[in-house]
Amino acid sequence: MLGPAMTTFASGSDLPDIAADPGTPIDRNLGLELVRVTEGAAMSAARLMGRDDKIAADRAAVESMRRSLSHVDMAGVVKIGEGEKDKAPMLYIGERLGNGNEPRVDVAVDPIDGTRLVARGLPGGIATVALAERDTLLQTHCAYMDKLIVGPRARGVIDLRVPVAENLKRIAAAEQRRVEDLTVVVLDRPRHDQLLREIRAAGARVKLITDGDVAAGIMVALPERTGLDVLMGIGGATEAVLTACAVRCIHGDMQCRLWPRDEAEAELVRREGFDLDHIFEANELSSGENIFFAATGITDGEMLDGVRFSGDRVETHSVVMRSYSGTVRWIDAVHDLAQLRLRNLGSPEDQA
Ligand code: FBP
Repeated sequence: MLGPAMTTFASGSDLPDIAADPGTPIDRNLGLELVRVTEGAAMSAARLMGRDDKIAADRAAVESMRRSLSHVDMAGVVKIGEGEKDKAPMLYIGERLGNGNEPRVDVAVDPIDGTRLVARGLPGGIATVALAERDTLLQTHCAYMDKLIVGPRARGVIDLRVPVAENLKRIAAAEQRRVEDLTVVVLDRPRHDQLLREIRAAGARVKLITDGDVAAGIMVALPERTGLDVLMGIGGATEAVLTACAVRCIHGDMQCRLWPRDEAEAELVRREGFDLDHIFEANELSSGENIFFAATGITDGEMLDGVRFSGDRVETHSVVMRSYSGTVRWIDAVHDLAQLRLRNLGSPEDQA
């Protein structure tokens, strides 16, 4: 996993996104509240790892998040969430979260990204949530988006409209590497057969993932070398907005296009007022200046280790980011279940 070696970094001077109009910062402790929420969801879901029951794992994470988010000082509304795509338990679009106090925020939530991974005990399942000022996160009922994500060194050179080979050439030039040195992450889906042919013809290396394009998108967008350089292909729209929140915090670059599955969904997207050809930049998916992103590993993954249970000790591994300061924290926590019981703090997963 990533982590200790890259504990915290603060923004440099070439950061136009957050320097332009900082406005009034939202209380920075909201990020730490959020990480408690993802820790709780991860602990709840991790109890069900490998049971081959996606719905039960998802429900455990959703219910934990709903309970813990209700205590957070905020008037939140879910702008985009998971569940509609695959009829899973969900925090639904429009749902109010938080205790109703200021600040007023939009919430993007995927209680488990990689539900199948958790159900099968495979690497890479995470619990994740992001929030930002009200009316700044993209809202759509379109389930999928076509995505192109890179790190800060290749910022400003990508363009979803040009051929795959051209994007890879530009990214390699910006990274001062050869196309053959780049590793492109792609979800392993039949819809990507042509994309894969183009990437391979261009000479880049490919890493196929079965699920979990939020963690993969963050890995390519981190300024540190993670071994993953580009993410390409079609994945969830909720995941796109969540990833954009992280990408804005770490100054990577990202473009997306809505990808309706059929004419009915295309019509829905047009009724939502979107142009199907529009290319969304990261700052259109998440346009605020006060963006908070948190994720906790459920199963062991390349970005985050999973939850470890040991009697009354539970270990979690999380990342939390805040765009206003540009701070990224990698947090290893040990939760003391006996102490939580002693204090009568209710469900340990909610009170961590
Ligand atoms: P969930 O676990 O939230 O269902 O998402 C897993 C995931 O792999 C995402 O990371 C990705 O964006 C999306 O599913 C791709 O959708 P599909 O599995 O339908 O191709």
